[in-house]
Amino acid sequence: MTSSADLASLYQLLATRGTPTLPSGERRAILGCGYVGEAVAQAWKQQGHELWGTTTRPERLTELANLVNNPLIFDSTDSRCSLSFTQDLDGILVSFAPSKTSHVDLHQYQQTFLQGVEQLLQALQQRPVSTPLQLVYLSSCGVYGNRQGAVTAEDDPTDTDHPINAILVRAEEMISSLRSEHVNVCILRLGGIYGPGRDIPAMLLGAAGGLIQRNGLNVPCWIHRDDIVSGVDFAFKQGLSDTFNLVNDTQFNGQELTDRLCEQSGLPLARWLTTDTGDRVLNARVSNAKLKRLGFRWSHRCLVG
Ligand SMILES: NC(=O)c1ccc[n+]([C@@H]2O[C@H](COP(=O)([O-])OP(=O)(O)OC[C@H]3O[C@@H](n4cnc5c(N)ncnc54)[C@H](OP(=O)(O)O)[C@@H]3O)[C@@H](O)[C@H]2O)c1
Repeated sequence: MTSSADLASLYQLLATRGTPTLPSGERRAILGCGYVGEAVAQAWKQQGHELWGTTTRPERLTELANLVNNPLIFDSTDSRCSLSFTQDLDGILVSFAPSKTSHVDLHQYQQTFLQGVEQLLQALQQRPVSTPLQLVYLSSCGVYGNRQGAVTAEDDPTDTDHPINAILVRAEEMISSLRSEHVNVCILRLGGIYGPGRDIPAMLLGAAGGLIQRNGLNVPCWIHRDDIVSGVDFAFKQGLSDTFNLVNDTQFNGQELTDRLCEQSGLPLARWLTTDTGDRVLNARVSNAKLKRLGFRWSHRCLVG
């Protein structure tokens, strides 16, 4: 018979070990292992999936090898790259975005999103139609454009006047064409991403006492990287095949946001412009009610307290 002292020491021993993970047997790819893609890879690795992950840069392959079983180069602008490895996978996360440059380059957006998605569509054409696939595509709430701060749900009109938004909407339409009885396509429209290394509150506080050269009456939206990782996981677990806004509850305009942050920190307020500057604008109180109704819960509900 086992004594309670034996059990206590067994529990103590188990408490020092990480939770064991069993191989799920799933084969999943992350197209674009950047800020978000890497975090998803980390979570999926913990869950025991066999992973493929892409980068455009050969010098990142060694680093990626610590996260995924099969690190690969994929650059949608390079016709020598192929996504044929996606043909017999169980799941794909599309999380590529144009590399950061000081200005927004329309051609780069076209090449990354439209050519990238086109290459994926071509690769998946070779797949047996009845093989199940879960696909999650990371899009942006930027597609709503300027809705004068109106409450905005997934079925509300998107903006196709701004050429960047037109590209993003077109990419969503292209990826949606894959949806079928056997292929789930979940589009997650993200707010501005923050998290480790992207400390948006600290950046905004950096403007305390100064003038921000953007229209502070516009309402942006936000999402913490942890909640994107959970949202992607939720989409996989629930087998989602629809479009969802993945944003937190913060619906302040820019001026209100910095006012709160500065007041909480005892710093002088930052001032914003009150007219648009010609930059691409998101001005919408983006609703997350559709995901909430399905039972999704956020770990970071608000950008500011
Ligand atoms: N940042 C935001 O606030 C925001 C807001 C809304 C939606 N989103 C969406 O969220 C997703 C993840 O964003 P993120 O912040 O993780 O992006 P990120 O850190 O910039 O990572 C982008 C990834 O895409 C790869 N990439 C760049 N150009 C490519 C090309 N031409 N072909 C193929 N891959 C290419 C990059 O390769 P390297 O590894 O070589 O860099 C990197 O792995 C993206 O789909 C983005 O559109 C972002």
